[in-house]
Amino acid sequence: MVGYAFMGAAHSQAWRTVNRVFDLPARARMALICGRDTGKVADAADRLGWDAYTTDWRDLINRDDIDVVDVCTPGDSHAEIALAALAAGKHVLCEKPLANTVAEARAMTAAAETARAAGVRSMCGFNYRRVPAVTMMRQLVADGRLGVIRHVRATYLQDWIVDPQFPLVWRLQKDRAGSGALGDIGAHIIDLTQFVTGQRITGVSAVTETFVKERPLPAESSGLAATVDGSASPTGPVTVDDAAVFVARLDGGALATYEASRFATGRKNALRVEINGSLGSVVFDLERLNELEFYDATRPGAEQGFSKILVTEGDHPYMSAWWPPGHIIGYEHSFTHEMRDFIEAVATGVDPAPSFADALQVQLVLDAVTRSAEIGSSWTEVEPTLAAVAV
Ligand SMILES: NC(=O)c1ccc[n+]([C@@H]2O[C@H](COP(=O)([O-])OP(=O)(O)OC[C@H]3O[C@@H](n4cnc5c(N)ncnc54)[C@H](O)[C@@H]3O)[C@@H](O)[C@H]2O)c1
Repeated sequence: MVGYAFMGAAHSQAWRTVNRVFDLPARARMALICGRDTGKVADAADRLGWDAYTTDWRDLINRDDIDVVDVCTPGDSHAEIALAALAAGKHVLCEKPLANTVAEARAMTAAAETARAAGVRSMCGFNYRRVPAVTMMRQLVADGRLGVIRHVRATYLQDWIVDPQFPLVWRLQKDRAGSGALGDIGAHIIDLTQFVTGQRITGVSAVTETFVKERPLPAESSGLAATVDGSASPTGPVTVDDAAVFVARLDGGALATYEASRFATGRKNALRVEINGSLGSVVFDLERLNELEFYDATRPGAEQGFSKILVTEGDHPYMSAWWPPGHIIGYEHSFTHEMRDFIEAVATGVDPAPSFADALQVQLVLDAVTRSAEIGSSWTEVEPTLAAVAV
């Protein structure tokens, strides 16, 4: 694994747990973790359960006994690490968004396609697909229970940078993060809604805004937390969006709205998706992730209404491996499910999803949103994924 902070910890938890919960054809051994600071990565290796640590990610690539490389760094290093790992025949799990630019994502997709021919697998970490209620939402749509999908309404709202004195962490720098709320949390709802509906976004009209344009430089930062050195800290420009709002068309005919913001005061990690079809509607809210709201319009009129399904039964996705019905699960379990699916795919020689090509398509949507916002919200088609050419 490369990176030991927020996602490093979440993924480590999942790698540690996955074989204890799921019966899989292969076992994960947590061999080597990489970070740039010797003291901190040594501490992380001990705390998170890794056999050894290094300060150079190339050590992972060079070791013959390492089969999988898990990329948990900011977006500016995804392409370099993933390309080197694939070239060395390592299976790669890479955090989202796949890359900082479409060009990088295309190169990664091309490399993944080449490696695939040699049995080397790759996957992008859109973990919310693996929340059982989200997987079930997809099944309801696929089984035709919602009929023809007309509307998709998706919001992903946070408030961790509302304070203008919150420092200029890597997530607020375009060269490190690619984009702001758009790529960080907007990418999640793009992937989630496309996964659930089985439809892809074909075009968008977007607005983006950077509400606070200058911020103090950070002293320390990790995940979504950071500190500054006193009030006289030097400042720097915010070079990404604080919020992105867009309307979209899906290729199955649905109309969609998306809102991703880090300025939704009071909203901490509020991901909500509602889908309306000709035969019913379904609603998912991450703050109540064990539940799904389902409206079945085929029921007799007097019985109609939204019903709450508690997605903890043994025949719900992933749930038979966990606890008795009603014994709820949480955020971290989505990562355990991600590792479960990845290990099973690698061990049985099938391609895991979402592939790098799927993640490239999300990147193309992000790119269309950015371009639309730059040209006064003009309607902007999403480029086709087809030409996955190396750059
Ligand atoms: N799936 C999710 O829900 C989710 C949530 C948060 C973040 N992410 C994604 O995970 C990735 C990491 O985000 P994070 O929140 O964990 O960031 P973070 O700042 O908490 O951690 C980044 C880690 O990468 C390390 N790092 C940076 N450059 C490195 C390099 N060149 N070599 C070795 N280590 C390096 C840092 O030392 C740190 O350990 C990003 O792509 C982000 O978008 C995904």
